Amino acid sequence: MAKTSAIRYSCSNCGAVYFRWAGQCSECGEWNSLCEGEFAGDHKKKHSNNSAIPISEVTLKEDVILPTGIDEFDRVLGRGLVLGAAILLGGEPGIGKSTIALQVAAQIARTHRVLYVTGEESLSQVRLRSDRLDAVSENLYVIAETDMESILAVIDRLLPVLVILDSIQVVSHPAIPSVSGTVNQVRYCASELVKKLKMVGCAGIIVGHITKDGSLAGPKVLEHLVDVILYFEGENGFQYRLLRSFKNRYSSTNEIGVFSMEEKGLQEIANPSGLFVDQTTLNNPGSMVVPVAEGSRVFLVEVQALVVETGYGMGRRTILGVDPNRGNLLIAAVEKIVGLKLSSKDIILNIVGGYKTAEPALDLGVVMAIFSSGHDLPIKRRIAVLGEVGLTGEIRSVPQIDRRLGELEKLGFEACFVPKRNPLDETFGKVKLIRVESLQESLRRLSEINS
Ligand code: TYD
Ligand code: MG
Repeated sequence: MAKTSAIRYSCSNCGAVYFRWAGQCSECGEWNSLCEGEFAGDHKKKHSNNSAIPISEVTLKEDVILPTGIDEFDRVLGRGLVLGAAILLGGEPGIGKSTIALQVAAQIARTHRVLYVTGEESLSQVRLRSDRLDAVSENLYVIAETDMESILAVIDRLLPVLVILDSIQVVSHPAIPSVSGTVNQVRYCASELVKKLKMVGCAGIIVGHITKDGSLAGPKVLEHLVDVILYFEGENGFQYRLLRSFKNRYSSTNEIGVFSMEEKGLQEIANPSGLFVDQTTLNNPGSMVVPVAEGSRVFLVEVQALVVETGYGMGRRTILGVDPNRGNLLIAAVEKIVGLKLSSKDIILNIVGGYKTAEPALDLGVVMAIFSSGHDLPIKRRIAVLGEVGLTGEIRSVPQIDRRLGELEKLGFEACFVPKRNPLDETFGKVKLIRVESLQESLRRLSEINS
């Protein structure tokens, strides 16, 4: 039998492996992304002595959890850093990944040994930042290194409780011939580090940059390697930063951490409910407030719509913050059910403050914002909107309605549009409830409020 060659080609975008070179990767569709690489050839079959056991005989091991003391960070993680866990911290350049990593490092270094590996900045730059963040400590060790083998050796010598690798895209391992940042390097370095973390029993934060299409470089290959994936989000030039988890082997992925970038690093915002509402625009047409439930908290967000006559034949749609598919579906629903002619209109949808959400409870807010802008019909008083819109124009119930209305009451809202399908009274505390069944009814009530 012919021996199979060890030469393979792997896609530098998604990591798919091929036996033959091709111009386009059939997995991700990227052109000219296949590079030659050596992969482990035939390996001898090994049989492990491990035998299967009934699940009832599996002994439960308590994870050792180390709270960082930064509540917004701990909330997203579950309760804190789990020893042995690998956390991928992704985000665009300049969003604050190194800052939060250093702040977490400083907190843990109050009681335990921490290693901060910087591959992007010099030691004096890190020191300068640490001074600013009040992060200088005897227990915080730093090294400027990009050679993965050396980094692993330092971990072995130092035996820290937390390692921060800033960032995975700049390190390389001599066992892999390609340059740093390529999928093979990123995958190998990350897997070596994860192995080491488990062996040493220390937590690891792996910083990763996001590519221009919004995904982590080498996304697929890293996702299954790590235990937790965190994304740091925020608008350029906007002060607030949101920390979300997309995968968490230890807790739910619903929670959001809110920070504000200040002179002395990232500050926690414990009570962010009113942050994404611009009080000055509330009485303008095209602006609606929706209480969005994220994890254990409620955020009030402001959806804005701008409907204008197009300069071209076909109206264009620009959808930010709202899920684009959902946005297009709602625009179609308004057109069909309410008879608002939108095909010759440009429609811009946005959520104030760079907030992003795909919550269905936002639907009615989006539709009413479009209607309000299209008819120049503002909501004059402090009135919020809540409801999922079905394709036939029915307003569907939303979960956790009491918590949402509670937040509105706390912030002094007068009334709220709510789905009739949610069993509620005429008022919720001081908030008057406008109970609606269909899209037509909601828009009619909006017109009545204005008259
Ligand atoms: P940084 O953590 O370097 O971002 P990343 O590692 O994600 O690329 O933070 C970048 C920005 O944060 C930088 O432009 C300056 C700002 N910043 C502050 O406003 N205050 C601070 O105390 C620090 C450390 C940074
Ligand atoms: Mg950085």
